Amino acid sequence: MQLIDGKHVAATIRERIAKQVEQIIAAGGKRPHLAGVLVGHDGGSESYMASKVKACEQCGFTSSLIRHDSDVSQETLLQTISALNNDPDVDGFIVQLPLPRHIDEQRIIEAIDPRKDVDGFHPINVGRLSIGLPCFRSATPAGIMMLLEHYQIDTRGKHCVVVGRSNIVGKPIATLMLQKATPGNATVTVCHSATPDIAAITRQADILIAALGKPHFVSADMVKPGAVVIDVGTTRVEDPTSPRGWRLRGDVDFDNVAPMCSYITPVPGGVGPMTIVSLMHNTLLAATRQIYP
Ligand code: GUN
Repeated sequence: MQLIDGKHVAATIRERIAKQVEQIIAAGGKRPHLAGVLVGHDGGSESYMASKVKACEQCGFTSSLIRHDSDVSQETLLQTISALNNDPDVDGFIVQLPLPRHIDEQRIIEAIDPRKDVDGFHPINVGRLSIGLPCFRSATPAGIMMLLEHYQIDTRGKHCVVVGRSNIVGKPIATLMLQKATPGNATVTVCHSATPDIAAITRQADILIAALGKPHFVSADMVKPGAVVIDVGTTRVEDPTSPRGWRLRGDVDFDNVAPMCSYITPVPGGVGPMTIVSLMHNTLLAATRQIYP
């Protein structure tokens, strides 16, 4: 079994991005600028956002954080988005999800200029992804593809089973694994809450991607020996022994599943760091106009 070290791969890619930024600056170019919009004070969102700001510093990007209280009106939030769309210094921006219930999340996503949508959530980017056109790819699926590429994991003709069908991870990773590309070119099955006997399907997986957000859902009896297992879960569970009182738990019962796998991602330190670095990658693509010239 080989552990997929997302922390290491992310650091390598971050260094590569930082070098490219140095070259841009040396050539008299503008420093890439990522902005983030954070509504309320959800612990998970705060910590994601803090990691993104830190990654911007490590890459040599400018970052800015726009905060709104959780009772912000949809109108005010739309005005913030419009200002970011029109700010020539901002290359890309994200609105951290989830948003409070009184705000129509889809309306917010669709207000973002697709050329600045470094999260890849706008229907233009999602649509372009689905037919294989250049686009901003949702950060977590893009990060998983970078891991598969880094470890040169053979995906062609393999059966990839995705558990979970979210717009952010499940659907786009299924799309990417399906594409005629390397990595990709897999036979893809997507399981979800209405799928009967999920275990019967996951046991057929050469590559199993767990992205449903249920801690330790994937048990050893659901995994084919020798499978590649990618764990996207990051649920906070109480842990009195941790200084923070909680720790992250993946969707895979790592201790029992890992010995059966050819490759597996740990939680934390697997997919998580890659999500942040692929957002940085998207920001560099936005700043250098590589997707929408
Ligand atoms: N919430 C959970 N993951 C993400 C993400 O990748 N981007 C944004 N904007 N919000 C999230």
